[in-house]
Amino acid sequence: MDISLLKEQIKNEADLIKNEIDLRNFSSKYRGSNGIFNQLFQDLKNIQNKDERKQKGKEINDLKLFFDEIWTQKEKELIEKLRLEELKQIDLTLPAYEVKKGKLHPLTKVMEEIKSIFLRMGFSIAEGPDIEADYYNFEALNFPKDHPSRDMHDTFRIDDSYILRTHTSPIQIRTMEKFKPPLKIIAPGRVFRRDAIDASHSPVFHQVEGFMVDKNIRFSDLKGVLDLFTKEIFGKNLNTRFRPSFFPFTEPSAEVDVQCVNCMGKGCPACKYTGWLEILGAGMIHPNVFRAVKYDPKKWTGFAFGMGVERIAMLKYGINDLRLFYENDLRFLGQF
Ligand code: DAH
Repeated sequence: MDISLLKEQIKNEADLIKNEIDLRNFSSKYRGSNGIFNQLFQDLKNIQNKDERKQKGKEINDLKLFFDEIWTQKEKELIEKLRLEELKQIDLTLPAYEVKKGKLHPLTKVMEEIKSIFLRMGFSIAEGPDIEADYYNFEALNFPKDHPSRDMHDTFRIDDSYILRTHTSPIQIRTMEKFKPPLKIIAPGRVFRRDAIDASHSPVFHQVEGFMVDKNIRFSDLKGVLDLFTKEIFGKNLNTRFRPSFFPFTEPSAEVDVQCVNCMGKGCPACKYTGWLEILGAGMIHPNVFRAVKYDPKKWTGFAFGMGVERIAMLKYGINDLRLFYENDLRFLGQF
């Protein structure tokens, strides 16, 4: 077979290829086991003259490369042709489907922000169980036996010893039982109270507890930490104020207010024209709490605080009804 004639033939046949089947037949005609190239190599063996055989072999190989190139080019053209045909079937002017992206729930967002602020101040995170022993929730925290919050009316009781925790403060006890000071802990979690749901109450809500124990921890350390926290969480240069209060597990105790995020302290309906909003409870850890975990109250001092996450979120975003957090209305949730 004449090589240059074959080359012409390959070119002509390639021009006639219209689809995948043509392309496959084209390939097997030349490259198949009974194809032209194998035939050519068979014939090669019959050439006696060594130089002539070598020359002929090179020509066949070149032709083979030429074929491969043409074939690859044809394949590319066919793929492109198919793609264009497919595109013609699609209406490119049809608007795309809207991809609905999920978002974090506003309470999760605020919880994450609170955690991140305290982590940056060097606090670690601890957790405790939702079903808590009466001992951890009340007794070790210096609640007297007849304290009203231990009543059936205020607390979900499992039995005489177990309840659904009413606050995250029991994590103070659990952590101090396990570790020695110095401690710098926050404890986020869900808490439960027997309240009917309304604009400002829910039987389930969230708190973040915080506490620090070391030698020489003073009330001013508590003030510094909470002052920085409020500036960070509300993103404004708001002042804090500490009012004397009472909690069984702290002495002295305080209720902490922040300047109204809405009017910056000038007075408006949101702060009932006082310029201040209450955000959390705090104080110096009571010596009896230290005694319950076998810490020497003469050696160690510490502060503690507890805040409601819903309350912080409501103040931060100007939300006036707690129920909005739990109704799962996308028109509300989509705003954060
Ligand atoms: N556990 C209190 C509550 O649920 C909040 C609280 C107040 C926590 C003062 C504290 C604290 O650690 O020192 O109302």
